[in-house]
Amino acid sequence: MRLLDENLNALQARLQTSRFGRTAKWLDVVDSTNPLALDWAKRGAPTGSIVAAEFQRKGRGRFDRSWLAEPGENLTFSLILDASELSEKLELLPMALAVAVAQTLDEVVPTHRPQIKWPNDVLLAGRKVCGMLIESAIASVPSSRSGQVVAGIGINVNQSRFPPELAETATSLFQVLGGPCDRVQLLADLLLELELAFDLLIGGDGARLLQRYESLLFGRDRPVNFRRVESGREEEGMLLGVDDSGGLRVKTAGTIEILRAGEVSFRQPKPAG
Ligand code: BTN
Repeated sequence: MRLLDENLNALQARLQTSRFGRTAKWLDVVDSTNPLALDWAKRGAPTGSIVAAEFQRKGRGRFDRSWLAEPGENLTFSLILDASELSEKLELLPMALAVAVAQTLDEVVPTHRPQIKWPNDVLLAGRKVCGMLIESAIASVPSSRSGQVVAGIGINVNQSRFPPELAETATSLFQVLGGPCDRVQLLADLLLELELAFDLLIGGDGARLLQRYESLLFGRDRPVNFRRVESGREEEGMLLGVDDSGGLRVKTAGTIEILRAGEVSFRQPKPAG
């Protein structure tokens, strides 16, 4: 695990944050940045510390999936946050992080408006450009409101092609912009947005964040398939928006249901005729 000082120095020179990214490790090859950050968090890394890597051998996604990213092309990093600063606002953290990523990408991509697929995938042109995996440092109590939280963020930046199983659903900034993007500058810009969103959240302005989140939400007022984590059952409904704690509001036969954990997918409109 070599430390990449060149990237780190360039990042520090461009940071405009007060806390986020000020303590940082940028490594070349790791299994996954999340466990490294969790371990560092337990050993006292301050809020806003990050662990970035050029390549993850075992990049992790939600629902025990893998996160695949070509070496040296993308952003794969984990951000350490103090959950006690968030207390009962912890449930809005995924929303705040997604808004920060979408706002950052909005500045970079003039041609497309980023959107958020509940809870925190960020899409460009309807395809996934960023995924997040939020984990707690207190492994046995994942919903604990004390201790540290690690937000693992993967952004497809300069990857020009994806393996066949992702080619239809994933995209990168390279694909959308038609050329490369400065990863270090992007990370510096993103850390500023993340810090602003985090401060808004701990400052008690969750309502403003949720308003922004809803305005970026993909598939509003559209038919949606959703799968609850608890039952694993696939159900159908109409996506309405989110509630005060970031749960997804879905209208099913006559009732409004709130999805707190799970996954959504969208049905293709039936071809006319
Ligand atoms: C998902 O969309 O399923 C979540 C993907 C999260 C990927 C990031 S990359 C940095 C961090 N380390 C990991 O192993 N995963 C997260």
